[in-house]
Amino acid sequence: MMETSTPSPEFPMRANLLLSLAAVLVACENEPLGGDDAVERSAEERVLDRAMAFQGDGFVEVSAEMVPSRAVAGLILEWVTADAWSAFAQVSPDVTGSGVVLPDDSLIVRAVHDEEGALSKYTVAWFPPGGGALEDIFFLVADPDWAVMTVDGVRQAGSLSTCQGCHAAREDDGWVFGVPR
Ligand code: HEC
Repeated sequence: MMETSTPSPEFPMRANLLLSLAAVLVACENEPLGGDDAVERSAEERVLDRAMAFQGDGFVEVSAEMVPSRAVAGLILEWVTADAWSAFAQVSPDVTGSGVVLPDDSLIVRAVHDEEGALSKYTVAWFPPGGGALEDIFFLVADPDWAVMTVDGVRQAGSLSTCQGCHAAREDDGWVFGVPR
C-alpha cells in the first residue's frame, strides 16, 4: 500500500524522456520519403566516413612512397581496408588475369598529388557486399578536405560511367589495377 502512494522520484524524468523520444519519432515520420536518391546519399555518407579514416587501424598503406600515376598527371599513394590487403597485393597494373576477387565491403583510397607532391584529390572505390559487377562499385572523388567533387555538373559519387570506362579493363583482376609500381 505504501509503495503505490509514494511516487517514484524517477517518474518525472522518465516521462520527460519518453516525451522527447516521441517528439523525435514524430519528426522522423514527417521527413519526406527519399526514394533512390536518399539511398544513394546515405551510401555516399557511409563511404565518405570510412574513406576519411584511411590513416587509421582499419587500413593498410599500399605504397611506401609516391609513384607516378598511369592514369593522370601526378603522384599517387594508396590505402586498402585491412581485409582486402592480401587479395589486392596479388594484383599488379602490369598483369591481367590474376583472377583476384576483392572481399565484400573492400574500400580503396587513392590520394592523387601534383608533381610537387601537394595533395590534389582523393579517389575512392567501395565494393558493396553482394555486388560483383562493375556497376556495383561505388566510386567517389573528393577534394583534399573530403568534399565530394563535381565534374561537368556530375557529382562524383556512385556508379560512375567515367570511372567504369577504364576499370572495365580490369574485369579479371577484381576491377582494380593493384599495387602501384
Ligand atoms: C584513364 C583511365 C582511368 C579512369 C577514367 C579512372 N581510373 Fe581509377 N585507376 C586507373 C589506373 C591506371 C589506376 C592505377 C593507379 C594509377 O596509376 O593511378 C587506377 C586506380 C584507381 C584506384 C586504386 C585501386 C586500383 O584500381 O588499383 C581507385 C580507388 C580509383 N582508380 C578510382 C577511380 C575513380 C573514382 C574514377 C572515376 C572518377 C577512376 N578511378 C577513373 C585508371 C583510371
